[in-house]
Amino acid sequence: MQGLRGRTEAGWSGEAAIYLFAALLAFGTLAWMEALHANVLVVESAADSSHFVRDGLMLLPLALAATLWGLRPHRRRGPGLPRAAAATATAFAGLLTPAAAAHIALHNADETAVAHAGPGGAIAPELAEESHGLASTLLHGVTDAMLALPVAFLLSLAALALLRRRHERAALPAAPRRRLLLTASTLVVAGAAAVVPVSGAVSPDYPKFAAPLFIPPVLTGQNIDLTMAETQQQILPGETTKMWTYNGSFPGPTIRRPTGVPTNVTITNNLPESAGSMSTHHHGAQTTEDSDGQPSDYLIPPGASKTYTYPAVDSGGAERAAPQWYHDHRDMVTGRNVWMGLAGMFIYDDPFEESLNLPKGEYDVPLMVADRQFDAGNQIPYTFLENGVFGDVILVNGVPQPFHDVGARRYRFRLYNISNKRDLRFRLSNGQSITQIGTDSGLLPEPVSRDSILLGPAERADVVIDFAGHRGETIVLENADAAFGPGERDAEVMQFRVSNEEVTDTSSPVPAALRPLPPTGPPVVTRTWNFDRTDQKWTINGKSFDPNRVDAQPTLGTTERWVFRNPTSQPHQVHVHLNDQKLVSRNGQPPPAYERLKEVWHVDPGEEVVVDIPFSDYTGKFVIHCHVLEHEDDGMMTQFRTLPASRHHSPPPSGSAKDTLSRKIRILSSKRLRRILRRGLRFEAAAPVNGATLRATMKVRGRTVGSVRRTRLSRGRVKVTLRVSRRGRARLRPLVRKRRRLRTVLKVRAGGETRRARFTIRR
Ligand code: C2O
Ligand code: CU
Ligand code: CU
Repeated sequence: MQGLRGRTEAGWSGEAAIYLFAALLAFGTLAWMEALHANVLVVESAADSSHFVRDGLMLLPLALAATLWGLRPHRRRGPGLPRAAAATATAFAGLLTPAAAAHIALHNADETAVAHAGPGGAIAPELAEESHGLASTLLHGVTDAMLALPVAFLLSLAALALLRRRHERAALPAAPRRRLLLTASTLVVAGAAAVVPVSGAVSPDYPKFAAPLFIPPVLTGQNIDLTMAETQQQILPGETTKMWTYNGSFPGPTIRRPTGVPTNVTITNNLPESAGSMSTHHHGAQTTEDSDGQPSDYLIPPGASKTYTYPAVDSGGAERAAPQWYHDHRDMVTGRNVWMGLAGMFIYDDPFEESLNLPKGEYDVPLMVADRQFDAGNQIPYTFLENGVFGDVILVNGVPQPFHDVGARRYRFRLYNISNKRDLRFRLSNGQSITQIGTDSGLLPEPVSRDSILLGPAERADVVIDFAGHRGETIVLENADAAFGPGERDAEVMQFRVSNEEVTDTSSPVPAALRPLPPTGPPVVTRTWNFDRTDQKWTINGKSFDPNRVDAQPTLGTTERWVFRNPTSQPHQVHVHLNDQKLVSRNGQPPPAYERLKEVWHVDPGEEVVVDIPFSDYTGKFVIHCHVLEHEDDGMMTQFRTLPASRHHSPPPSGSAKDTLSRKIRILSSKRLRRILRRGLRFEAAAPVNGATLRATMKVRGRTVGSVRRTRLSRGRVKVTLRVSRRGRARLRPLVRKRRRLRTVLKVRAGGETRRARFTIRR
């Protein structure tokens, strides 16, 4: 073999070829790595090309060094193509190991740093908590480099073959001086690339207060149809944003209904099949469990519809009027689904509120506020971050920092914070106070004048702002809790432009007394719920969500005292389904006047919130969870089951009392990915009847990765091995590499019974 042998007299074309070769190696390998790391659940968006170019340029010196090494002259004989390619590829992989590890470490810091603090901001100290260990980062680096090896080899081989044909006579490698020049220039390029900020960290620019506030369409009928679909929304100027919406708008239509009469909402899932099954929860409503939008039961599969019934009654009477909302609640992907746009308002009205003559119609304005992060193509790809996902653009009813023309009179605003993670502290730029008249659960006993109102995710405040005396002024609704600091765009929510005209206000001033709190009996049980962090997971009382586990069984007709504690370093938003909760104390202090009755509680680190819950109306399984959606998806959720009032003893959780056969699924084998891939997952389950057929499927992030079927079993416990399918293998490997731990669900159906076991696959 000759031709690759060093000859120094050739022209610069040899160097150019080497340079091209190195570039091919760097970008080709990178493209492969990115493809491997692509998270199947991240909604595909316009590739973050500037990031790609930067990373590729940064890889260039490594690729060049490997190339020069691979092509170095051999004394006795020139390296054969495969040998040169192998040498290049190994050298490249070797250099890649520390580089990949460093890159991963950077991104781990970045994920939280960029998303949470933004440009110029400081990393919130609480976010440093989730450190990714050095060992695992290094290991990740090594695996990445190993995975790059075959591709680097093939690329080298192809490039060398090409080089040899085109430069049969060309000198490879270059003369020492040219090599030096080549290396130096590459280092300069890489260095320059390294300091260039990549897009994606900051959403594209748009003019603030330039777009008018959007008021979602209002639906008032008893039977309502909503269709979930992927639609294009004009959010930022230029490109439209692909979102998942109810009836084509973000937020979805506002449902406005009287309480005390049922509303039937039929929801159709026309989302792309890859989005999986959905579950819509009417947040704040009291419903039977099958209409509650449960995380893993009563789902709406792709293409299917489901009718939810909302009776709007509470202990025989009408539910209190309240600013409620609806949103997706699917287990483990609620954060993604809401981020993509699956949310809308559901406001209940009742004669009591009507009698107060508060501002109505166009003077009663719902404001659904949420942050989103846009990429350079105006898309909002979602990447799960267990600490919560932030964005740097504040949307009000889907419009970035809109303006709203108002008259110099009283307005009622329903303030919603539906961000996945971000807290918002609303205040007015002119220092005017805001009159809070209600919470998540309807009107307060008395109005409260507030300088600012803190709303964490899922919380609402019903407020009245009086613009009288402010003719011709512009007043900004601010967020005093801006992550990017005052003056940044997350510090200003929207602008009110008060018209110069004189208007007559037909509404009544807010009365000094609003609505008394509902009566609650003395609590019969006290339960404590620690919103905690356990084994690197967000947990409640140390446990991750398990749809087969129930942690409390309150009896209908009784009141229980629940204590919410936050021993972690991040705030949690404790939300209990079914009944509203009356605040007993916050940190041992009597309830503040503005949060007497609610269903979402902001619990700061170290805080303790005590509430009384009068359980009523529906028996069944309901969830309690943190409404920081990524905490919820990470497992900070559990269930209680309400028991009928007549029972004096608690029944066994499932099956009949005499039935001693344990229905529990036990995982017998190792939960390490390598073992599962090689030998399958071994588990023990129950065949409840003779002749039963057992079917088990293992799902990771909503996708089936393996299944098994056993027929004609005799009643009793059986041991079964489930093997991962070829496609499952392809899915699992990159996922595990990316996440290190994967929440997995094993669903076993036998003799008409379904059981699930959840566990974590580790690398
Ligand atoms: Cu708004 Cu269980 O959720
Ligand atoms: Cu809810
Ligand atoms: Cu939380």
